[in-house]
Amino acid sequence: MELFIDTAEIEEIKSLNVTGLIDGVTTNPSLIAKSGRNILETIEEICNEVSGPVSAEVTATDFDNMILEGRKLSSIAQNVAIKVPLTFDGLRACKVFSDDGIMVNVTLCFSSAQALLAAKAGASFISPFIGRLDDIGSNGLNLISEITEIYSIYDFDTKVLAASIRSVQDIIDSAKMGADVATIPPKFLKAMYNHPLTDKGLADFLADWKKTGQTIL
Ligand code: G3P
Repeated sequence: MELFIDTAEIEEIKSLNVTGLIDGVTTNPSLIAKSGRNILETIEEICNEVSGPVSAEVTATDFDNMILEGRKLSSIAQNVAIKVPLTFDGLRACKVFSDDGIMVNVTLCFSSAQALLAAKAGASFISPFIGRLDDIGSNGLNLISEITEIYSIYDFDTKVLAASIRSVQDIIDSAKMGADVATIPPKFLKAMYNHPLTDKGLADFLADWKKTGQTIL
């Protein structure tokens, strides 16, 4: 499973990228707004830091301006993935970009029917929002499962990018269901590796080692 970080905060990205475990980054207009910074400068900095796909979302809702904005975002760096919403115009724009060989992440996906159209439009990634479905009492993970099932039947190239992650369990369950990618808030990478038994076991190892009086170096 590829792990993307879902943030526009460059320092957070840098602090985690040292692990070598970050396969990409996703941003959206809300995350850019939260950063308080210019989108073009921010996406350029992120693309310089992370070599994998960096999603930059258009803010236009009409096809013509989606194309103009998307081409501007795509020109920032070769690893920009243009993010478009799963709307009629977003699907049209996705088809144009994908036909031009440009990476597209189709976002705000909440149904398998939407995901089917995004794959037909040549999306590089589809972003089903698990958490926002769960927030309204639906079942986001069922959507991941259904999309991965449909995509496997027709051998679509579109990668399932589990998004709107609310817990480490969402990541694990998405992996179990075959999602290609999970885009996670930075705090969840730490939550993934942190375990009290690891900490205790290490302390016990080092206490016993100290008694030997030995050093390795
Ligand atoms: O960035 C896309 C998605 O991960 C947003 O998640 O937490 O705003 O529902 P959230």
